[in-house]
This record gives sequence, C-alpha cells and structure tokens, in this order.
Amino acid sequence: MKKRMKGAVADRAAHHGDHVEINGPWPLDTPFRIGDLEIPNRVIQAPLAGIANAPFRVQAQRHGAGLSVSEMVASMGVHHGNARTVDMLRLDPQEALTGIQLFGADPAAMAEAARVAEANGASLIDINMGCPVPKICKTGAGAALLADPVHGASLVAACVDAVKVPVTVKIRRGLTPGESQPVEVAKRLVDAGAAAVTIHPRAAAEEYRGSADHRITAELVAALDVPVIASGDINTPRRAYEVFTDTGAAAVMIGRAGLGDPWIYGAMASGHSSARPDLEGVIDEVIAFVHLNIALMGERRGVHYLRKFYPWYFVGENVAQSQIAKLLVTEEVDGVLAQLSDIAHASALATASGLN
Ligand SMILES: Cc1cc2nc3c(=O)[nH]c(=O)nc-3n(C[C@H](O)[C@H](O)[C@H](O)COP(=O)(O)O)c2cc1C
Repeated sequence: MKKRMKGAVADRAAHHGDHVEINGPWPLDTPFRIGDLEIPNRVIQAPLAGIANAPFRVQAQRHGAGLSVSEMVASMGVHHGNARTVDMLRLDPQEALTGIQLFGADPAAMAEAARVAEANGASLIDINMGCPVPKICKTGAGAALLADPVHGASLVAACVDAVKVPVTVKIRRGLTPGESQPVEVAKRLVDAGAAAVTIHPRAAAEEYRGSADHRITAELVAALDVPVIASGDINTPRRAYEVFTDTGAAAVMIGRAGLGDPWIYGAMASGHSSARPDLEGVIDEVIAFVHLNIALMGERRGVHYLRKFYPWYFVGENVAQSQIAKLLVTEEVDGVLAQLSDIAHASALATASGLN
C-alpha cells in the first residue's frame, strides 16, 4: 500500500463504531445548492485519480454520497481524441449526481472537454487546481495554477461560458505553506464564475504529510459568498460533524476514508455509526464492484485494475495475507470470484465454529 494511503486506510478499524451523540437533527443530512444544482446531503465523494471511475461513483452514491466527483480527466487528452480519456467523461446510467473533474492549462481545451462532459450528463464541472504531481504542474495545470490565479480565473471563465451546469474549483492552500494565499486565490476564481470552492488545506509541497488545517477552510467560508467544501482527513462521522460545524463549510468531501469502505458515506450522511457489514457482506460488495468494473473495462484490464482495491477492503478483517496475495496474481475474473467465495466460505466456517 502506498504511504499516502497507509495511515488513512489502516486507521479504519480504530474508528469503527465511533458514534456521535448530538442534540437535534444530524446537520449533514440536509440538502444544499451549488448554483442551480440541489444536492441531497452534505457528503461528497472526492475526486481520486485512478480510482473514482463510474463503478466507484455508482457504489459511493448507492451507499449515501450526495454527489460524486470523477477522477481528474486531461482536457488535452479529450482535445486530441484519446479514446481512454474521452471514455473517462462518460457516466453510468445509475449515477445520480456526478461532477466531472478536468485538469489542464489551456482555456479552449478545458471549455471543449467541459462541453463533452455536460453533454454526457455531468451535474457540474470541477477544475483541478490542487494536484501536486510534478508531471501535471510542469504543464501549468493542477496546483501550479495557485501561483497564477489570473490564469486560473481565465480557465474558470472559459468553462462557465461553455456550459450551463455549475463550474467549481478544487484548490489546496497554496504551493508551500509560506506562499499560501488561499483566500485571495479563491476570491478571484469566484469572481470569474466559480459556483463553489473545495479546499484541501494542505500546501502542494506537503503532499499528504501533516494534517489538513481546516482553520483555513473557515477563513474561506468567511470570505466567499459561494459554498465552500472541506476536504482532508475527514474519516469518521464524528470528524465530519466537527469539520462541518467548526468551519461552516457547506459540505464535507471524503477521499481515502471511502477506499474499501463505501458504507462510510452513508454513516456520515446519517450520523449513524458505519453500517459496514460482516466479512461475507463486504465480499458481496466486492463481487458487485468486480462485475461493474469488468463490464466497463473488460476482463484483462479490469482484473489488473481491481487489484489495488482488495487490500483496502480487507484491512482490519479476518483475512489471511496469503488469501489476499492470491487475488493479486489471479489473471481471470472467474478465478477472482472463486477466490472471493473461498474467503467468504472460510469466514463462514470460522464463525460457525466460534473461531471468529
Ligand atoms: C490516490 C489519490 C488520488 C487523488 N486524485 C485526485 C484528483 O484526481 N483530483 C483531486 O482534486 N484530488 C485528488 N486527490 C485528493 C483528494 O481528492 C483529497 O482532497 C485528499 O485525499 C484529502 O482528502 P482525504 O483525507 O479525505 O483523502 C487524490 C488523493 C488520493 C489519495
């Protein structure tokens, strides 16, 4: 598992059943608007590159996310007609509310990709201004735009002119903690037409180190007259409640906590402790997810793509490493399904014999 995932996913067991008692109704279970778009609750599934494809989004929404945002899509890839990139702009018919996130630095290419995404049914267009990856930043896209908010604003304006759905922006606090001017940057983006701003309040240079400083989220809430969405280290219903109420944000966005734990969206939206089922229920969910991904991308690509998800689903579960390891080398979908059944079967036997 990669370093940025390890803490976030592995903490899950520690937080499970973490329940919040509050007086009155749970405030995240209320609708809100981004422009003309009504979103049924305050829990948003985060854009996650290489992860938040249509099956992931369908699953997040089925479990209670009020809105999903796609993995980031290269506007230049759309412009050049790259088939895989164009496919990433497609939605599944089961998706209710999904934003498509675009990255790029060329206003015409961003507008063109925004038009295609809107025609495909995107509920909103989100512009990535937070990705710290050097390959993206050196093209002037992602977090590089935080250092050039005038250009960032021109991308927003180009997309706003191109589509009727709301255009939103996702930022980090700045390139480095010292150079951060998130309020000034966000104000420019809103002046250019951004209908909401999501902030992940770490600097790009910090990647995933330290913790997200949601005092910055609160500063944005105070300064902007559009909804502000809080992203970063929100991994339990309790934390969702705290960030939501402490900052005044319109919604919380959930990234790593949703990996292998789609039940977390509903837990946060309802305030109940997670409805994560027993291992057999988890495996039913994994099997449904396998089928959706194989249908989308075919057996060979799908089987390889799915491998990163298994360790996330089984963290904290009573599954032997050797059983997970077998899933990571199986080449056919039938083999994957058989191995998942074996894991479920072993768990059922252990339960019956009182070993679990
Ligand atoms: C694997 C991975 C991929 C990500 N991809 C994107 C992306 O494509 N676009 C984006 O705006 N943020 C992306 N992020 C950042 C997340 O959306 C989120 O802001 C960040 O992980 C902090 O939230 P969390 O603590 O809930 O994960 C990614 C994060 C991770 C871990």
